[in-house]
Amino acid sequence: MDAIEQTQKAATRIAALLRAGDVVGLYGPMGSGKTTLVKYIARALKTTDTVSSPTFSLAQRYDGTLPLWHLDLYRIEEADLYDIGYEDYFYPEEAATLIEWPEKAGSLLPETAFTLCLTKDENRTIQIDPRLLEREQK
Ligand SMILES: Nc1ncnc2c1ncn2[C@@H]1O[C@H](COP(=O)(O)OP(=O)(O)OP(=O)(O)O)[C@@H](O)[C@H]1O
Ligand SMILES: [Mg+2]
Repeated sequence: MDAIEQTQKAATRIAALLRAGDVVGLYGPMGSGKTTLVKYIARALKTTDTVSSPTFSLAQRYDGTLPLWHLDLYRIEEADLYDIGYEDYFYPEEAATLIEWPEKAGSLLPETAFTLCLTKDENRTIQIDPRLLEREQK
């Protein structure tokens, strides 16, 4: 299985665990595959919307079996988050929110947010928050 297939498999697993109201931070260096992972999660949730980096539009919305917000905070300062009404994305009701560069949100990021950690090595490992994986037991 190559790295892309592994990412697709992880995305399918993650998608099955997500619920409305979840906030998920994707951590990993530039080019580690955060946007790619979001794309495959959105596909697993049967979106027909085009997934791309929302660097310029800030937040993108994908409608599928579970609606998603996709944020990329790379160019954002913590103070700017107040201007964009971050509460809608950080406390979603009927959607789940996936955030690239969540560290930029500082203390505004909810403590309950789940964590996905990506590496940029040839294996492109994706570490899934154990609190999210716990749902597989239920
Ligand atoms: N699992 C993977 N296997 C092989 N290549 C991958 C994988 N995931 C991503 N890539 C490739 O790596 C490059 C960067 O991916 P991507 O844009 O998803 O990274 P990113 O973490 O979102 O980057 P940024 O920090 O700039 O937002 C792309 O060319 C993508 O096709
Ligand atoms: Mg990206």
